[in-house]
Order: sequence, then C-alpha cells, then structure tokens
Amino acid sequence: MKMFVKAALCATLLAITAAPVMAEDFPFEDQIEGRQGYFQMVKFNMGVLGEMAKGERDYDAELAQAIANNLNSAAAMDNSLMWPKGSDMDAEGLSGQTKAKAAIWQADSDIGEKHKAWVAATETMAENAGKGVDALREAIGPLGKSCKGCHKEYKAK
Ligand code: HEC
Repeated sequence: MKMFVKAALCATLLAITAAPVMAEDFPFEDQIEGRQGYFQMVKFNMGVLGEMAKGERDYDAELAQAIANNLNSAAAMDNSLMWPKGSDMDAEGLSGQTKAKAAIWQADSDIGEKHKAWVAATETMAENAGKGVDALREAIGPLGKSCKGCHKEYKAK
C-alpha cells in the first residue's frame, strides 16, 4: 500500500513538472524584444560577411568561418518560445512593437519551409566561408535571398 501511494505521488509530481511550457505563457512584449534582438545579432554577423564579400573589409578565413558557424547555429536554434500565436502586428496593443505578420500563424503558412531554406543557406555558407573570398561570395547571395524570402511574406517593411 505504501509503495502504491509513493508511486502515485511520484507520477503526480512527474505530471506537474512535465507540464509543457507554452509560448503563450510569457508576456508578448518580452518575446518580441527577444526575437528582434536575435535578428539584430544575425544582421550584425551577416554584415561582416557582406563587407568581406564586397571587399570593404579584408577577407579573414578564420573570422569568416567563425561568423558562418554563428549564423548556422543561430538559424538552427529552436526559437519557438519567442513566437507565440497572437503576437503579430495586428494584435491589440502590439501595433508599432512588432513587424511580424499574422500570416506566420495561419494554417497555410509556409514559414517552416522558409526557415528550412535559411538553415540550408547557412550550412552552405559554413562550408564555404573559410575557403576563400570567392567561395564566400558564392554563398552570400543565396543566403541573403533566404532572409528576404521570409521577410517578403512574413515581415512588414
Ligand atoms: C523564417 C523567417 C525569417 C528568416 C529566414 C529571416 N527573418 Fe528576419 N525577421 C523575420 C520576422 C518575422 C521579423 C519580425 C520580428 C518582429 O518584429 O517581431 C524579422 C525581423 C528582422 C529584423 C528586424 C529586427 C528588429 O530590430 O526589429 C532584422 C534586422 C532581420 N530580421 C534580419 C534578418 C537577416 C539578416 C536574415 C538572414 C540572415 C533574416 N532576418 C532571416 C523573419 C525571418
């Protein structure tokens, strides 16, 4: 009997601690700030590669590789907690705070595909960036396109 109570208690505790953390559980303002800061970090890293590609900054294989790895890690990270449904630019009280379009959360949204294309482009960049400025240049166009591909559909200007 004692054993049974213990087991039941354990199961209950497990159920409590295993309650899923939902993106909807946080203040939207914090999440919006988080994802915008994340994209500012992405933009900064991308900018350095862009300057190297354009010849505005000396090509440095080691630095280019480190940045490409950063971008690849950033793109691949699970960000779902910062994107709760309802945190779009048309939501009450959020106008001016976010440029995320409501289409992101609509049933026919293909933002997952756009995200995958971005991850793939950062992988190519991570393969190329350390192999010379020409290899970096080859990878930067498609990478930039993968940013724009998502922004065009899902981010307001
Ligand atoms: C899968 C979709 C997607 C991809 C890919 C993507 N973005 Fe974004 N980006 C967004 C969305 C949505 C927002 C709007 C976020 C908000 O305002 O809440 C955004 C916002 C931004 C912002 C503005 C941040 C701020 O301070 O408000 C910058 C800068 C940015 N992205 C840069 C980039 C760059 C550079 C890349 C590629 C290297 C990229 N993004 C790839 C969806 C994407």
